[in-house]
Amino acid sequence: MKNVAVIGGGLMGSGIAEVSARAGHDVVVVESSDDAAKAALGRLEKSLERAEAKGKLGAAEGTAADVLARIRVETDLDSTADRDIVVEAIVESEAAKVDLFKRLDSIVAAPDAILASNTSSIPIMKLGVATSRPTQVIGIHFFNPVPVLQLVELVPSLLTSPDTTERSRAWVEGSLSKQAIDCQDRAGFVVNALLVPFILSAIRMYESGFASAEDIDRGLVLGAAHPQGPLALADLIGLDTTKAVAESLYEEFKEPLYAAPPLLQRMVDAGLLGRKTGRGFYTYS
Ligand code: NAI
Repeated sequence: MKNVAVIGGGLMGSGIAEVSARAGHDVVVVESSDDAAKAALGRLEKSLERAEAKGKLGAAEGTAADVLARIRVETDLDSTADRDIVVEAIVESEAAKVDLFKRLDSIVAAPDAILASNTSSIPIMKLGVATSRPTQVIGIHFFNPVPVLQLVELVPSLLTSPDTTERSRAWVEGSLSKQAIDCQDRAGFVVNALLVPFILSAIRMYESGFASAEDIDRGLVLGAAHPQGPLALADLIGLDTTKAVAESLYEEFKEPLYAAPPLLQRMVDAGLLGRKTGRGFYTYS
């Protein structure tokens, strides 16, 4: 697979575009507006300049400018027509993703192209059956920050062909040098099914006044050797995304431990989304 498209150039999409371009792929990023496209390009430039300054770009990857030259940011979905693999990383909304997969199905020309989703919690089957080629639809779930974290969850639906799964694995492990684990098509897959209830418990603990945000996070960092506490992690993931994933998990399993606590809902309503808006459980400059 040579030509890659990433739909949505936000936190995750820009990271997926970066690792794909660093692996030598020709990458098209499709955003929803000119402003969003500009922001996506800015995120890519900043991240690549940082990687270059830290000496993280290998000889095969080239300079930050070389990597950027392999990426185009567009606003027209038709630019995915000649792609071998499309990775969707738009907002965590089932309706928006289903609509996008229908449109991709009518645009992406190669009969064996892979249509992948980076969704954290939406059933891959719902995306597969929105297309005429569910055997080629798969979840390829990266972790944030994509250039740093090694894990990718591979999530075939009941209809995904073994060939699609194995070509996806070869791309993830062979080209992108990530490590894949295999998951069933259940909301949350492996990592979020375990991680999200943990984050929600920390939010409930903070909401009830049981302990301060700082002490909850210090507790887990110093007492359980976590690299960061659950509230700082929620700010990094984005509180809107955390809430959306919790709602998908709750919808799937109907277990109270997956219910988004009122404070999380209010913070999202207030636009306090964590790092990306400068304020969540902590403030960021
Ligand atoms: P984000 O809000 O940072 O980025 C979403 C981007 O999609 C925005 O730039 C938006 O302009 C763009 N967009 C929205 N609708 C679009 C459309 N129809 N066409 C093109 N672009 C469109 O969100 P984030 O965090 O990057 O999440 C994206 C996906 O990745 C979600 O499905 C999320 O569940 C998943 N994910 C998120 C992780 C995280 O830690 N934030 C981790 C792993 C997966």
